Amino acid sequence: MKRVVLILPTYNEKDNIETLIISIQKVFQKLGQYQLQILVVDDFSPDGTAKVVERLTAKFQNIALISKKKEGLGAAIIYGVNYAFKYFSPELFIQIDADWQHNPELLPAFFNCLEKGADFVIGSRYIKGGSIPINWGINRKIYSIAGNAIVRIGLGMMTPFDWTSGYRLYKSDVFRKVGYGLEKYSGYTFQVAFLRNAKTAGYKIAEVPLQFVDRIHGRSKIAPLDYIKNLLIYILNNSIFLKYLIIGIIGFTLQTLLTKLLITFKVFPGIAVAVSSFFAISANFIGNNLWTFSHNKISGASKLLKKFTHFIATSIGAVVIQFIVVSVGVYFWGDNAWFLLMTFAIIFLVIPYNYFIYNRLIWKKTLD
Ligand code: GDD
Ligand code: MN
Repeated sequence: MKRVVLILPTYNEKDNIETLIISIQKVFQKLGQYQLQILVVDDFSPDGTAKVVERLTAKFQNIALISKKKEGLGAAIIYGVNYAFKYFSPELFIQIDADWQHNPELLPAFFNCLEKGADFVIGSRYIKGGSIPINWGINRKIYSIAGNAIVRIGLGMMTPFDWTSGYRLYKSDVFRKVGYGLEKYSGYTFQVAFLRNAKTAGYKIAEVPLQFVDRIHGRSKIAPLDYIKNLLIYILNNSIFLKYLIIGIIGFTLQTLLTKLLITFKVFPGIAVAVSSFFAISANFIGNNLWTFSHNKISGASKLLKKFTHFIATSIGAVVIQFIVVSVGVYFWGDNAWFLLMTFAIIFLVIPYNYFIYNRLIWKKTLD
């Protein structure tokens, strides 16, 4: 029988925890083939959640309660996992909210995915059959949907569809391999950071449709603005593409301002653009080297010089792309179309082109 540790993080869930635990026990009785250990990680809930759980530990042998100080959802899960490794050596972990928003009846479907080869299963609100509460206000809907969209686009990982869901089943090896070092994500960002690590490491991820229903008892502990802020910080720190875009925008602004400045000092516009574009290219190189690709930072004078030369050479490619698009375009649509054509070329061709070249050529990981 496979050992499963089910982690229930709780903060003020006294009216939910008992019925939920009983229901979970029933699901596992029916499943039969798993040895379940329930681990409630409670942050000294002022409502007395721990008392309810203690009463249950007297009734059931497979329930353990951890009481610790308030540190956030991510911290609670990490604490629970470490505790479980120490005392229960589980093969599988389940994370489930203790407020009935995650239906325990879905667990057999989760295990099914595991049997079909998945390493990590997510209860997903954003796949066919899944949903968020219809009675939610528009704000909450937007936070939830936007949160996920930001993650998917920002990380450039379109699957899975639900990155923030806290309803999960995974092999304990996944946590052993990629779960450590996430202590700094003590709040809800933990979910995203852990999943990204798992996906990057190549684990097979599956999703089960989850109808995320509204709470009946208690309140959500999420602080929406804080939540979005932390997500954005995480994405910004981990999205090469976003950093690359930001550096690009800074470079472009720098070039425009410098050109204007030089022209006011009576410098010939052609020269002004040439000089300022050289500055912008250099600034882009430095910015990308220190920030975007800091994990592959180029250092040492000779190497810097060599790569900078490559960088300028490939920047000429971007110039050529724009030259071709604008030349061909104005032939068909007239001279006035130059601005739209240039913008089109930059967004759809130059940005992807440079991004590709930077990743594959300039900041490619080399063995020397
Ligand atoms: N121990 C502990 N400590 N538990 C906590 C804490 C904490 O600081 N904060 C929240 N919890 C528990 C709650 O008691 C509940 O069981 C579960 O974690 C989820 O918390 P909610 O406050 O109900 O979160 P939510 O429903 O608003 O958020 C849902 O959506 C998020 C974003 O999509 C959850 O599914 C999250 O997991 C998800 O990240
Ligand atoms: Mn909830």
